[in-house]
Amino acid sequence: MNIPFNRPHFTGHEAIHVATAGTSGKISGNGIFTSKCHDFFKKKYGFGKVLLTTSCTDALEMSALLAGIMPGDEVIMPSYTFVSTANAFVLRGARIIFADSNADNPNIDTTKIESLITGHTKAIVVVHYAGIACDMDEVIKLASHYNLLVIEDAAHSIDSFYKDKPLGSIGHMAAFSFHETKNISCGEGGMLVVNDMSFAPRAEIIWEKGTNRAAFYRGEVDKYGWVDVGSSYLPSDLAAAYLYGQIEMLDDIQHKRKNIFNTYNERLKLLEASGELQLPVIPEYASHNGHLFYLVTNKPSQRDQLIKHLNLKGIQAVFHYLPLHKSPYYNEKYTGLPLPEAERYADCLLRLPFFYDLSEVQIETVVNAIYSFYKQ
Ligand SMILES: Cc1ncc(COP(=O)(O)O)c(C=O)c1O
Repeated sequence: MNIPFNRPHFTGHEAIHVATAGTSGKISGNGIFTSKCHDFFKKKYGFGKVLLTTSCTDALEMSALLAGIMPGDEVIMPSYTFVSTANAFVLRGARIIFADSNADNPNIDTTKIESLITGHTKAIVVVHYAGIACDMDEVIKLASHYNLLVIEDAAHSIDSFYKDKPLGSIGHMAAFSFHETKNISCGEGGMLVVNDMSFAPRAEIIWEKGTNRAAFYRGEVDKYGWVDVGSSYLPSDLAAAYLYGQIEMLDDIQHKRKNIFNTYNERLKLLEASGELQLPVIPEYASHNGHLFYLVTNKPSQRDQLIKHLNLKGIQAVFHYLPLHKSPYYNEKYTGLPLPEAERYADCLLRLPFFYDLSEVQIETVVNAIYSFYKQ
């Protein structure tokens, strides 16, 4: 492809920090660069406790363990999301109760949540699709009323806001991704954020294989051992060093990525105005963080033809999630209502090439190719 869908950005800072970590004498987890990353995220976004993980999937699994999810518990989440949002809770025996998306954006339709709450409901998991916030006041109001936990799947959401609050700082816990498709990355990586500090001590134990090793290294206990369940969720300090190189360039990365989003949006507005397609809707309470750019076609066949049309011109555009309630794994287990909006996004949403080094000429090429499709 002349214009790939994604190309991870290399700032140059990563190599310096990885070399420093490599010669420091400690490259396993919870080292100097892990601490530097933790400090940065806490200071910049006011997060409670921060723990780097090997993926967002792992951070979600940690949140399910911390939430104390047991077989038979119910967890409400959108169907239009990545498998890990659900899998983390299914691994603990939860029944997933899928909710539909909004008509004007793929986030969970908060007006549909209350009717899904039962005596078994333990948590609501929201996904801020494309880093655009869900209606968090509504979610928090329901969760407080029914005494439920709120977990933000903030995989897309670094440096994005709900009103003036950073995403990931609102729920009891949040999970971020630093996979290579994300704004800042270390190849594979993630982060658990704990805002309800009553979960913090246990989070650190689960993170380090069920041991109190972190407390031992801080000199709080004289030996460490097995004190709880847990797993190996912490990344090597080499990954943290790489991530720190990206963090140092966060403002530059965000500036560039937001410009790409705004350019696509501006250039495609005419097609939206003529009713050919739908562009991302950013509610007044939300911002965008230049994570991804999507458009929604009027018909599924149009989406598939548009992907083919772009591919023939050397442009790699892709669809996104298949709705989880229709997935081979969950289809038989799903007994809930139809979820027409989730299915519409699965059938009609298309993501355009989006990465830091995408040039203005390349954006123009993509935009022109879309216009040529609609002129046919
Ligand atoms: C909404 C959502 N949650 C979780 C994940 C999993 O992230 P990771 O690949 O870091 O495990 C993804 C992947 O992109 C995602 O889109």
